[in-house]
Amino acid sequence: MSFTRHEPARPRLHRSELAVPASRPELFAKAVTGDADYVFLDLEDAVAPAEKEGARAQAIRGLREHDWRAHGKTISLRINGLDTPYMYRDVVDVIEAAGDRLDTVLIPKVGTTSDVYMVDALLTQIEDARGFTRRIGLEVLIETALGMANVGSIAQSSRRLEAMHFGVADYSASVRARTTSIGGLNPDYPGDQWHFAISRMVVACRAYGLRPIDGPFGDFKDPDGYADACRRGRALGVEGKWAIHPSQIAAANQWFTPDAPEVGRARRILSAMAEAAAAGRGAVQLDGKMIDAASARQAQTIVALADAIEARSTSQTPRPQMAAAAG
Ligand code: COA
Ligand code: MG
Repeated sequence: MSFTRHEPARPRLHRSELAVPASRPELFAKAVTGDADYVFLDLEDAVAPAEKEGARAQAIRGLREHDWRAHGKTISLRINGLDTPYMYRDVVDVIEAAGDRLDTVLIPKVGTTSDVYMVDALLTQIEDARGFTRRIGLEVLIETALGMANVGSIAQSSRRLEAMHFGVADYSASVRARTTSIGGLNPDYPGDQWHFAISRMVVACRAYGLRPIDGPFGDFKDPDGYADACRRGRALGVEGKWAIHPSQIAAANQWFTPDAPEVGRARRILSAMAEAAAAGRGAVQLDGKMIDAASARQAQTIVALADAIEARSTSQTPRPQMAAAAG
């Protein structure tokens, strides 16, 4: 291991993240009682320009009137991009009025570290002015060629950063990829056309202790396509996926939950490695296969995730926090 070590961001359960347009408050009650680990209220692309101001007011009301945390949710707000005339008021108005009720701010179309810096500075001033004691986290959407080119520096841009999200639709537009549906696969490409982009973002996230999250899959009438996208992301190290419709939440929760044999084996690896250490050995065999300290690190991650999921299902209040995986 390098002597340089980046501590993991504040851990949160993040298998599924439901997108809810802030301009549609009639959806809030369903979102708060649903099964998503995370919900973001959207002020950006799901809200038409004429509704931007009204959506801000609805977001404030939604944060104050619903107790998202008591329902086991992490609650996030997607603000408008820094290239719009809306972003500064999104932050100032919503955070001043309801920042104490919000867990994270999601910044879209981040291209450089300065984009993050600006929102961080605004949050810091508002938190100090209002006396908020709980620090609001930041998340970024990597969905432009510039953002992907700078993904490594963006990952280190703020101590508030917790997660990076791959925004496939804007990314496709930015790099001029030929696509069929949002997040679907183009049959002209022999394999997974999103592999490089997602994997590049995953590496940046894991290097600097952030959660890599995969964005939307637009065809919510195609559950098989959604499940395939979850499984492909999971194989690359992605931790969770957006749901743009409630019908996608269960699949994300399922595919990003380690299954019982996986958890059982992880626990057996940890006990076998503890016994090995007591006997002064580094590598041993389990079920005929070699395991060593690297196996124990993978196993710890799986057990920490399984414990957090178990805590969420047995008790929704207080909200479970994942133990940081050691190693
Ligand atoms: N959050 C909470 N509830 C939602 C929801 C969401 N994102 N999307 C749909 N629902 C609810 C509907 O209100 C409806 O509830 P009901 O049965 O109590 O009436 C139920 O789920 C079924 O909805 P349905 O009729 O199939 O969909 P719709 O036509 O109302 O909405 C979309 C379809 C795609 C417009 C809607 O799902 C949506 O706005 N999704 C999020 C879009 C978004 O945020 N995009 C930006 C990020 S990519
Ligand atoms: Mg986008």
